[in-house]
Amino acid sequence: MQRLTIQQNLDNCDFIVKKNDLEYCLMDCLGKDRVFLHTQRKYLLTVEEQFKFNQYTDKLKKSIPLAYVIGSQPFYNHEFIVSPQVLIPRPETEILVKEVIKTGEEICKEKQSVNILDLGAGSGCIGLSIAAEKPEWLICLSDFKKEIAKIIYKNKIKLGIKNCVITVADWLTAFSQNSFDIIVTNPPYIDISSNMIEDNVKKFEPHDALYADERGLADIKRIIISCSKFIKNNGYLLIENGYDQSSEIKKFLAQHDFKDIEVLLDYNNIRRFTKCRQKDG
Ligand SMILES: C[S@@+](CC[C@H](N)C(=O)[O-])C[C@H]1O[C@@H](n2cnc3c(N)ncnc32)[C@H](O)[C@@H]1O
Repeated sequence: MQRLTIQQNLDNCDFIVKKNDLEYCLMDCLGKDRVFLHTQRKYLLTVEEQFKFNQYTDKLKKSIPLAYVIGSQPFYNHEFIVSPQVLIPRPETEILVKEVIKTGEEICKEKQSVNILDLGAGSGCIGLSIAAEKPEWLICLSDFKKEIAKIIYKNKIKLGIKNCVITVADWLTAFSQNSFDIIVTNPPYIDISSNMIEDNVKKFEPHDALYADERGLADIKRIIISCSKFIKNNGYLLIENGYDQSSEIKKFLAQHDFKDIEVLLDYNNIRRFTKCRQKDG
């Protein structure tokens, strides 16, 4: 194996890859930041560093997403461990985190703590970001496979979070009535026949995290039907949804006794989140 300098490794790449991805791989292999990369172009990689970098570039060549190659993805204020079992956290989901924190702070004006359920937690990016920000709140994170729960657990340990519990369950089957002030969920919501999904998302990200029946609405509807008894009186439900699902979700929520239904926009002004409240009684 030939050892190369930082500059040579960047120049040597004989396949189409974003320069940014190569730089991230180098930073990860060297344990250094971008400043080092840009100021120490003649640094010769050690055998171990070169070996790791070659392994990374082999994966990039196969179009494996960068987050799965280096095993992590930044989200909100932290770096989350990811594996191909979990969805790569998306920047727009941070909007949901901010809204849950804002909603929890409102609830806190009347009571001391807030109980939140992150349903379909994946890497744990939503629930653990909230837990890190609000150590006095209690966050439950739930997903339906043990290997996903293990990733959530690794992130909990990595971020040093104490105020959360992790559950393995099929949606709401494991919880007690009236447990949560807020349920937040980013469930699978893509129609299986959609042609708007990028090829490497389709190829590498877990289909259980992406697709749902009934034009993508099956899981959202299932959650709406069953969640109300687990939300405390006047508590909240916040959902991330597909770009064209907003009207149908609003209608469905109204039919299932939710009130104060609000639609929130993503960074492109698309109606991607729905917030509502459980009716009294
Ligand atoms: C769109 S991903 C969201 C992951 C993470 N919350 C995020 O925002 O990056 C949907 C999540 O729902 C989980 N899921 C799918 N079916 C489920 C079920 N029946 N019960 C619980 N979770 C489920 C998937 O495993 C996946 O982690």
